[in-house]
Amino acid sequence: MSTTTSIHGMWSSRLMFILAATGSAVGLGNIWRFPYMTSDNGGGAFVLVYLACIALVGLPILMAEVLIGRHGRMSPINTLRNLARDSGTGRAWVGIGWIGIVAGILILSFYSVVAGWTLHYAWRYLKQLFGGAGITDPGATFSALLADPLELTFWHALFMLLTVAVVAMGVEKGLERAVRFLMPALFLLLLALVGYGLSTGYMGQAISFLFRPDWSEIDGNVFLRAMGQAFFSLSLGMCTMMTYGAYLPREGVSIPRVGIAVALTDTAVALLAGMAIFPIVLSFGLDPAGGGPGLIFTSLPLAFAAMSIGALYGLLFFGLLSVAAWTSSISLLEPATAFLVEKFGVKRRKVAALSMAGLCWLLGLLSVLSLNVWSHVRIFGRDIMGFIELVANDIMLPLGGLMIALFTGWVLNRTLLREQLSDMPEALFTTWRWLLRVVAPLLVLVVLVRALA
Ligand code: PHE
Repeated sequence: MSTTTSIHGMWSSRLMFILAATGSAVGLGNIWRFPYMTSDNGGGAFVLVYLACIALVGLPILMAEVLIGRHGRMSPINTLRNLARDSGTGRAWVGIGWIGIVAGILILSFYSVVAGWTLHYAWRYLKQLFGGAGITDPGATFSALLADPLELTFWHALFMLLTVAVVAMGVEKGLERAVRFLMPALFLLLLALVGYGLSTGYMGQAISFLFRPDWSEIDGNVFLRAMGQAFFSLSLGMCTMMTYGAYLPREGVSIPRVGIAVALTDTAVALLAGMAIFPIVLSFGLDPAGGGPGLIFTSLPLAFAAMSIGALYGLLFFGLLSVAAWTSSISLLEPATAFLVEKFGVKRRKVAALSMAGLCWLLGLLSVLSLNVWSHVRIFGRDIMGFIELVANDIMLPLGGLMIALFTGWVLNRTLLREQLSDMPEALFTTWRWLLRVVAPLLVLVVLVRALA
């Protein structure tokens, strides 16, 4: 029998869990990364592979993570250790927790740098609102920002401080209240931008870029990136959802339902972001292909500059995007912090959060420098930031997910699974279990082997 509460605290309701899990899932991954990944990997074909990854691999693993977390109620490493022991298998499965912690540290290091860009843009538009100069040449503005290591470090530090402040206090209080209003606001603003996209007359072209597959663009690499993006966007493979699941009450909460709610919202936001951004790109005569990581920073300001209340839009957009990034970065820091708390005592929450955040901040300086001073450094053909991203998002997350799928599908016994999924019809339960046993692991494996071989 699993315990009923976690020493780290509990979500006060099902809605709070959904908000927190959605807050974790929806972030830079949807609005910054998804559009430029689509842009760099051939448009429609990438999007379709991505959607298939979400349905066949992402959702089943999302449910598995929440289930394991809710059963174990501890930080991932200790939960997995207990589960492996109770199931009479080897300790190797604890490796999932370690992959998760290392991936989380690597991801947060560059995530915070990019979130720093969004803070910087929000600040620029705020100044413009009070009479400061507007962004008239977005390409030049963006390059100037990347060329300035001190500026980048400042915003990266500020964002990390915001993140650590929440995690150090424990997640329930401030965060639950914030996500309740801010996430819907972001959603509405995206809809407004899609509306603007419609008014450009380029929505048709944008939709065909997003959804019409050009299969000649597809190679092993596109699969790898789509799979990595699915894991990244749903916050999977690094035990974030497992950690959040540990704080989820038993009563009246159906794991399949919350899983579907989170996966659908996350996917909808990514697609909306695409539908907001590509009409703008096209209407300004830019090439939708090969936009790179600067895509939203160089395209959206074009639209804001053309609007009469563009500064307000800009401030709202980048402000809300910073918030979305914030609710995600908190969930990147939480698993490692919870683990340190369990290892060194509950009273050390502040120390635990601060030391992990400090480590991520330091590592983030590598990404900062790779944008300017060390921009010539190449590791396997990528700059340092691109390399960290590739290793963490596209390799470690799928690998962690693969192990979670195998562990849930083959090691955990039916009674334990059924106890957590009591409301699931038998046929769906069986389908879910076979997706985890065979389909998801095979897909991940084929993608990893094909891309890396
Ligand atoms: N899902 C988040 C986003 O889309 C990023 C994230 C990845 C958060 C992994 C937690 C764990 O921005």
